[in-house]
Amino acid sequence: MIQNTVNDWNAEDYAEHFSFVPDYGRDVIKLISGENLRVLDLGCGNGALTKVLAELGHDVQGMDSSDSQLALARRTCPGIKFIKADATDFHPDEQFDVVFSNAVLHWIDEDSQPDMMLCVRDCLKKGGQFVFEMGGYSNNRLIHAELERQFKKRGFNYEMPFYFPTIGQYSSLLEGTGLMAIYAHLFSRPTLLDGDDGLVQWMKMFVRKPFEGIDESTGDKIRRDAAETLKDKLFRDGKWYADYVRLRMKAIKI
Ligand code: BEZ
Repeated sequence: MIQNTVNDWNAEDYAEHFSFVPDYGRDVIKLISGENLRVLDLGCGNGALTKVLAELGHDVQGMDSSDSQLALARRTCPGIKFIKADATDFHPDEQFDVVFSNAVLHWIDEDSQPDMMLCVRDCLKKGGQFVFEMGGYSNNRLIHAELERQFKKRGFNYEMPFYFPTIGQYSSLLEGTGLMAIYAHLFSRPTLLDGDDGLVQWMKMFVRKPFEGIDESTGDKIRRDAAETLKDKLFRDGKWYADYVRLRMKAIKI
């Protein structure tokens, strides 16, 4: 898991309240073809999907840059190797049949995407599969537009801290690196959030970088005001839904 702030994750809180992230990733695994493959789980976080991949019979290794997520992964998945590395600068000394990644690649800024893709390409065997899902074009558009409005109202500048590409943009990047896109699906997936204050807690967990330098109580007020305004659109039958748009793809090393 990549983090868009200097602080590490609260891995326990993440596992308890945001388990929908790996839960949804189970469908992405179905894009992998073949059995008993050597798989790298890029940005494995707490290892929830690394474990699923291992249970399916693959020989899997997890990689992440977060100490707290890796510590939890090692505790909960004994027998699986987890390594600490940056997704834009990793060079394992072995090659893999598959690089798998769920809900991670949008944390890497656009300028650094080619570095990540070169690392993926280099650690894949010829014909190897790069299978992933990430936030796609217009992901969380309502949330970020409202945060921008709340920032502006208070004289702050809001910089959206994620990269959410279109199919065309990402296919070009992949193909420029020697990875041929063979499957792509961009789709909307409203995502149920946990708890009465689900949207505020989601913003607190995931949208951190824009709040750096803003005091805690102003930050809390911004999140509360944003949630109040978004209630009309994102709160239904007593539940919060985030306006997720997913980009799910598979590419082959040529
Ligand atoms: C996503 O999975 O699309 C996502 C998760 C956290 C923040 C932004 C996007």
